[in-house]
Amino acid sequence: MTVRLRAIVLGSAAGGGVPQWNCRCRVCRMAWKGDGSVRPRTQSSVAVSADGERWLLLNASPDIRQQIWSAPALHPQTGSRHSPIAAVLVTNGDVDHVTGLLGLRERQAFDLYGTDETLRTIADNQIFDVMAADCVTRRSVAFGEPFRPLPGLDIEIFPVPGKVPLWREDQSLRIGEEGENTVGVTISAGGARLVYIPGCAHVTDAVRARIDGADALFFDGTLYTDDEMIREGLGAKTGRRMGHISMSGPDGSAAALAGLAVGRRCFIHINNTNPVLIEGSPERRAMEEAGWEISHDGLEVVL
Ligand code: MLT
Ligand code: MN
Ligand code: ZN
Repeated sequence: MTVRLRAIVLGSAAGGGVPQWNCRCRVCRMAWKGDGSVRPRTQSSVAVSADGERWLLLNASPDIRQQIWSAPALHPQTGSRHSPIAAVLVTNGDVDHVTGLLGLRERQAFDLYGTDETLRTIADNQIFDVMAADCVTRRSVAFGEPFRPLPGLDIEIFPVPGKVPLWREDQSLRIGEEGENTVGVTISAGGARLVYIPGCAHVTDAVRARIDGADALFFDGTLYTDDEMIREGLGAKTGRRMGHISMSGPDGSAAALAGLAVGRRCFIHINNTNPVLIEGSPERRAMEEAGWEISHDGLEVVL
């Protein structure tokens, strides 16, 4: 077996996708019109493999069926029932990261990995019982305990500042807490290392240390500026309130990660309000000049 770390961005957008079903923000209007400078994007998910045959999904998005259709490596290959998707790891319990599990319900065996906390969130919801227990094995994973879900593919999860899923928020909400609710992932194969952090409230020294020296990084690119949704009249929430650091400014992720040695740095989980989605926009150019790629659906990274 030739071991080579491959990643396919299945969905590069945040929850809602681009365009979002009910949205007429500047970016979505361009997308609805078919303006070539805004690519449509599906919701947050990445596939990784060490052998190109068996794949681990990092998050399962509501767009999973379309994402599999668009990625020939994930099509059934042999016999009458088959899938190259052998395992799924969820990084939190958000709608955009877990509801795709419901699309994997046709009695296909795979392993489902997550923290105790996130697996409990899933277990609390009976609808997920459509993943038959005799087919889908739920495996709880812990910080500091690397595991190998597929031959040649080594995974470790680590805490990042985050919060409980939006739909589980209550009076006890603490934004930016580090725990089992929101995790980042280190993926290693054949001597290469990829770091995946689709949600991060702020960049800590521990997060920086995880990223430093990686061959590639997929990092939370939800918003460009903290108040962009408020300024567009789309809601009352800042990025900070949603548990997402913004790209720009002295407190932004581009500045916080600027000094680190990283092979390729790619933003992922990009919200439809983010002006970097407009090719050639000043914001897009600023991030590209800072060394960032704006990932799109179908982007492949081979390390
Ligand atoms: C987020 O990333 O903040 C969540 O996916 C929001 C949501 O559940 O829609
Ligand atoms: Mn999300
Ligand atoms: Zn929009």
